[in-house]
Amino acid sequence: MRPASSASYWPSTSSSASKPRGTAGRTFRSYRVPCLPQRLLLRHPGLRLRKSGIMFEPCVGNAKNMENTTCNMPGLGEKAPEFEAETTQGHIRFPQDFKGKWIILFSHPGDFTPVCTSEFMLFGKMQEEFDALGCQLLGLSVGALTSHIAWLRSIREKIEYKGIRNLDIRFPLIADLTMDVARRYGMIQPGASTTAAVRTVFFIDPHGIVRTFLCYPAVLGRNFDELKRILVGLQTIDAYNVALPADWHPGDDVIAPSGSTMEAIDRRTGTPDEGARCYDWYFCTKPLSEEKVTAGTKH
Ligand code: BEZ
Repeated sequence: MRPASSASYWPSTSSSASKPRGTAGRTFRSYRVPCLPQRLLLRHPGLRLRKSGIMFEPCVGNAKNMENTTCNMPGLGEKAPEFEAETTQGHIRFPQDFKGKWIILFSHPGDFTPVCTSEFMLFGKMQEEFDALGCQLLGLSVGALTSHIAWLRSIREKIEYKGIRNLDIRFPLIADLTMDVARRYGMIQPGASTTAAVRTVFFIDPHGIVRTFLCYPAVLGRNFDELKRILVGLQTIDAYNVALPADWHPGDDVIAPSGSTMEAIDRRTGTPDEGARCYDWYFCTKPLSEEKVTAGTKH
């Protein structure tokens, strides 16, 4: 049997990434995955890897539905896709409505599910901490506004988790019924058999640039200390032009940038800045107090 022509399975939207790229182009890039119906791939596994080296993925849902076949994940350093959406806090436009703010945009597989519920309670509890860091939380799932509202009311009225109860979720939860936002952000995995979004988290800076993203499976709740550490870390990197070593926490030493010329490197290793330690030319650390970190993240 001949595979369906690849052209017919390409989405028609214009995009710089609209050509097949094979697997190598996938990591940290906007990508578009060519797909064939799952049924066909199961019956003929050989179709998956074509002579050209292009890897076909099973299409999400109905292969005739071109809208479901793409996976565009914005990469690190790329502009976060714009969108408008209905939310539990009204209509929003991104990025216009959030000028000057950091954004944590996170998706979840569905309303009235236990892991998601526990996460919403943690996000809600930490709302003031994220506010203080100038960060807007934006949740998303592929579901109706009425369902989102009913779920948030249930959380407020019935659920207790880690001592948190009577919690009002004040950040917007996007009702992405058309999957418009989920598709722009690659939140639906290629090959997924449902429209449930995976647990992605995008950290977007005030210039609208994607600075970090994380992806968790449906059954593993996110670590909220780490979410906050990432936000504080990115703000510290920007405020002080430093890099942050493994397991960095506010108050730990940071990594000073290495020089870009022989002379600058000789100068830096010979006479490090006050308090700095250079172990070799490429690994110099220096103190950065918790107070300075707090000052650098104040909004
Ligand atoms: C949850 O949030 O509990 C969940 C969602 C989708 C699949 C499994 C668990």
